[in-house]
Amino acid sequence: MSEVAMSEVEGISRRSPSPSTSQGTSQSTAPSAGRILIIDDEAEIRESLETLLQLEGYTVVVAGTGREGLAHIGERAFDVVLLDLALPDKNGMDVLSEIRLVHPQQAVIMITAYGTVENAVRAMQSGATNFIQKPWDNEKLLADVRAAVARQKAEEENIQLKRALKQRYNFENIVGKSEPMLKIFDLVAQVAPSRSTVLLQGESGTGKELIAKAIHLNSTRRDRPFVPVNSGSTPPDLLESTLFGHVKGAFTSAVSSKKGLFEVADRGTLFLDEIGTMSMDTQSKILRVLQDRKFMHLGGVQEIQVDVRIIAATNVDLRQMVKEGRFREDLFYRLNVISLDLPPLRQRREDIPLLVQHFLHKYSEENERPPRRITTEALRPLVGYSWPGNVRELENTIERAVVLSSDSDIGVDLLPDHIVGRGTSVPTLDASTGATLFGIMEDCERRIIIDMLEKCGWNQTEAAERFHVPLSTLNQKIKRLAIEIKKKNNHRE
Ligand SMILES: Nc1ncnc2c1ncn2[C@@H]1O[C@H](COP(=O)(O)OP(=O)(O)OP(=O)(O)O)[C@@H](O)[C@H]1O
Ligand SMILES: [Mg+2]
Repeated sequence: MSEVAMSEVEGISRRSPSPSTSQGTSQSTAPSAGRILIIDDEAEIRESLETLLQLEGYTVVVAGTGREGLAHIGERAFDVVLLDLALPDKNGMDVLSEIRLVHPQQAVIMITAYGTVENAVRAMQSGATNFIQKPWDNEKLLADVRAAVARQKAEEENIQLKRALKQRYNFENIVGKSEPMLKIFDLVAQVAPSRSTVLLQGESGTGKELIAKAIHLNSTRRDRPFVPVNSGSTPPDLLESTLFGHVKGAFTSAVSSKKGLFEVADRGTLFLDEIGTMSMDTQSKILRVLQDRKFMHLGGVQEIQVDVRIIAATNVDLRQMVKEGRFREDLFYRLNVISLDLPPLRQRREDIPLLVQHFLHKYSEENERPPRRITTEALRPLVGYSWPGNVRELENTIERAVVLSSDSDIGVDLLPDHIVGRGTSVPTLDASTGATLFGIMEDCERRIIIDMLEKCGWNQTEAAERFHVPLSTLNQKIKRLAIEIKKKNNHRE
């Protein structure tokens, strides 16, 4: 595309939805029936079309060249564009494709002279809404315009509705424009209103809890509690009494009776986080509640009826756990009615700049700092890094940078070494020192092993396990690298 066209495109993408005020040559003060742009080089045709349409209550803007027409489109929205195929400066087809590029939904009616039906067919294939042959029949032209305006308005309403839904749906705090995240947003909006159990799968820090909350907030249960339970950080015995409650005397420390979280979440949502860490015993009890919607307090005899929506989350492969006999197959299928896979951040790098902006804003406000900006040099390594801790790791990185920053620009100096690639650099092979490649590699290996042994309190068995190598392999390396084993202590990382 030419330079001019490109700037027009940029202009087009910035246009704001039009109010229906009178524009161009229209004198009408009544509400406009729609906004029409006529692009035709023949003044006579422009004038007769303009008069015809104005008499029907349309607001009309006219342009004599393709370039002029595109400039109008860049400034404001039109319901329909009437576009002549033969223009002096640009082919009508080119104008059409430039409009399509930035406004795929814009209604465009092509106007062709006699004998150019083939062109008209091509125009339709390129996405024109319709075409009209000169000389036209007024009634037919008006009917076509009316239909196109109606379609355009419906389209616009649909977009407005979606925008309103997004706001109502509380998605503002969830950032993402990548294809996989847009799919997730759609799915959230679709599944939220139902009572179906949802299984969220994804690496740590990908936003499982955030999405679980969004599902709850967009359901009819939004005014009832959202109750998170972390199966991983709660000891198994405590987990059952936490979930199901207990009667007085159910176990030694049960000095009084207590409600379980299933009751607390009644008519709301229970978020079972890290479900893969749940014991087989607890799994079967959960399965029973899912099947019967009933349960009993620990030590109790009375059945309690609840209406709880379950959202479960896992960062391990539950299917694999089922294969290995570590997760109940029947529970897996009960939970897996609808599953959402949250992609790791490294698979949707286009979301990184957006998330960086979001967290800069959040932490500048939270720390009562003036707004912070990221420099282009600093954004580059952030987009390139692999983010094993996903969005949480990115969030922590930005929070740290904002707290450490002293002026409005956040540069590479405020980013951790391992992200920028400082400090992790491989030692250079300097010929003057006489070091060889193998010598440097041995040195690195020695340092890595000593570092791990120190972390494990010089327990070789534990170090071998953490390296995922047999103990004999580690011992051979220790001997070969002449690592002096220090006495064991009980230190653990
Ligand atoms: N798309 C997103 N937009 C904005 N913030 C996000 C997004 N995804 C995650 N976050 C933020 O990242 C942090 C981690 O998200 P969350 O706790 O939901 O992840 P998780 O998948 O539950 O992680 P874990 O498995 O470690 O529990 C939260 O502070 C959350 O607000
Ligand atoms: Mg979580």
